[in-house]
Amino acid sequence: MKNFRLLTITHKTANINHIGQYIPTVNSDPKALATRLHQIKEHFQMEELLYMATCNRLTFFFIREEPSTENFVLDLFSRLHPGIPIHCLGGVQDVIARYNGVDCVRHLFEVAASLDSLVVGEREILRQIREAYEFCQQEKLSGDQIRLIMKMAIPTAKEVYTRTKIGENNVSVVSLAVLQMLQHEPPKDAKFLVIGAGQTNALVIKLLGNKGYSNFTIFNRSLKKATYLASQVNGKAYTLDQLSEYQQPFDVLICCTRADRPTITDEVYQQIIGKDTQTKIIVDLGVPGDVHPKVVQNNEVHYVEIESLRRLAEENLARRMNEVEAASEIVGERIEEFRQNVRQRRVERALATIPSKVKGVSDRALNGVFKKEIQSLDPTSKELLERVVSYMEKKYISIPMMVAREVVEEELNREKEEKK
Ligand SMILES: NC(=O)c1ccc[n+]([C@@H]2O[C@H](COP(=O)([O-])OP(=O)(O)OC[C@H]3O[C@@H](n4cnc5c(N)ncnc54)[C@H](OP(=O)(O)O)[C@@H]3O)[C@@H](O)[C@H]2O)c1
Repeated sequence: MKNFRLLTITHKTANINHIGQYIPTVNSDPKALATRLHQIKEHFQMEELLYMATCNRLTFFFIREEPSTENFVLDLFSRLHPGIPIHCLGGVQDVIARYNGVDCVRHLFEVAASLDSLVVGEREILRQIREAYEFCQQEKLSGDQIRLIMKMAIPTAKEVYTRTKIGENNVSVVSLAVLQMLQHEPPKDAKFLVIGAGQTNALVIKLLGNKGYSNFTIFNRSLKKATYLASQVNGKAYTLDQLSEYQQPFDVLICCTRADRPTITDEVYQQIIGKDTQTKIIVDLGVPGDVHPKVVQNNEVHYVEIESLRRLAEENLARRMNEVEAASEIVGERIEEFRQNVRQRRVERALATIPSKVKGVSDRALNGVFKKEIQSLDPTSKELLERVVSYMEKKYISIPMMVAREVVEEELNREKEEKK
């Protein structure tokens, strides 16, 4: 595990509004993202790579001999963002957290279990980490070692959610955003303009529906998704291109897409607001933000974005503190188990060479050392001899595997006893 390295920018190290600037523009284009990550992996001679970008973190976990120096971090980010002058990325060293060795594994387990989330107890992160892993696995960025980590991180997170009450009441970034938005008391017949029809906005609409809101007009890059989401709530669907021509009044603007720049520029906002002077509520959950800062500066709006959820997030954390302690204990136990798995896997890998070696000995005996004598045998004796050799090959192969497993188990039991 000594070559395990993790670099991350999270809500703990940076203002969430700034995290988006470190997420590469290719993030929403899986093919281009995979190409970029392969270039990075190859250039820095990483054995394996796991990449994850969510609404409150950007994470690289990789296996590499060299430690992650400041220059390395800068080099990595300039390769992640080709075309951006190096001085614009200079601040990255101030917002990045670095982990090495087993601490990387601990961090990934804690992330999966939502212990490192802005909203502790949210389950969304489990889906995100799983999707990030599946992407890296399909693209052959990750390999056996990351597979071992994920094989344990995901069940550990599920165990945390089932054995503790950390995920009680389905808390999430979205639920806190809706809560904060409701503090501005939109009327029950409020008209919602929804920009983006992805999973996040689907959840926003579901929660609003539960609160009795029902007037939704949905705009999305592709009409198909907008239509689907609108059909769930009896709403109207349009493409994003039609937004600037939309002239109907609205009360709340909900924005969340994966676009790499604001979909709601001041110009677009002026077009949709027309002569309406009433204060609007804007909820912007995109990372980077979907609403240009000028919209907030130049207009009468109540603005809800992820960074502004910190106070509610802290209140949420305070309510779940006991559960966090219980969850950390579970993570600690699973880290120990993971260490054992790594050892076992190392032994298995070393032992994986045994079958071909044993086969080599048999081949040499049959076709070299005893070739002449075997040639003089009758067919029945020859066949018997081959069966005996094949039988012994299999047995010889299984013996060291069994012994090694027993030795590893004994060693682990001894360690456990010593710790008691
Ligand atoms: N999941 C969470 O808990 C959570 C919470 C807060 C914020 N967020 C943030 O929300 C954002 C969206 O996440 P998601 O899970 O909802 O994503 P998603 O399900 O993949 O949906 C992405 C949405 O963005 C649209 N989109 C993608 N690229 C676009 C572009 N270049 N221009 C305009 N629209 C574009 C997609 O339109 P098409 O249908 O046409 O592809 C789709 O509506 C991310 O930045 C994420 O970090 C997520």
